[in-house]
Amino acid sequence: MAWVTLGDPGIYSTFWLLARAVQSRRQTVGVEVVPGIVAFSALAARASVELLDDEEYMLLATGRARWEVVESALDDPRCGLVLYKPGELLGRTKLAGRALGRRGVVGSLLGTPQATVRTLEEADEEATAYLTTVIVPPERGSR
Ligand SMILES: C[S@@+](CC[C@H](N)C(=O)[O-])C[C@H]1O[C@@H](n2cnc3c(N)ncnc32)[C@H](O)[C@@H]1O
Repeated sequence: MAWVTLGDPGIYSTFWLLARAVQSRRQTVGVEVVPGIVAFSALAARASVELLDDEEYMLLATGRARWEVVESALDDPRCGLVLYKPGELLGRTKLAGRALGRRGVVGSLLGTPQATVRTLEEADEEATAYLTTVIVPPERGSR
């Protein structure tokens, strides 16, 4: 039996929930994980964005994260930010990015004919499709 999922099964996926449930009922069932291309990697490639260099780090979160956590990542110039299913945090990220001089990209429906890639500044705060990913790379201008 195969389970197909979006991107990598280890990131925000129901895969492990399902795998554990199956194994708890049938201990003999083996699990083999095939790694996938994560959405933020697909967006970074499509938008020609360098995600991280060796002095940088990143917060990967969803729109369910507490705003203070996201805000502190934006406030740290060495910290990149990736937001999955950003929802209402897209608008707040856009405003904070503008205030802090942080640029970003927003990709929706990547890999489909309807795919869009916009700058964070251009992104429509109302059009927050579920399949939307935001990247705010670390601020490199000052280094
Ligand atoms: C349940 S998580 C799955 C993440 C996936 N396991 C990964 O490795 O990227 C779903 C979220 O991933 C992002 N995502 C997945 N597919 C995408 C796509 N085709 N375009 C843009 N974002 C996508 C969106 O933020 C979406 O809300």
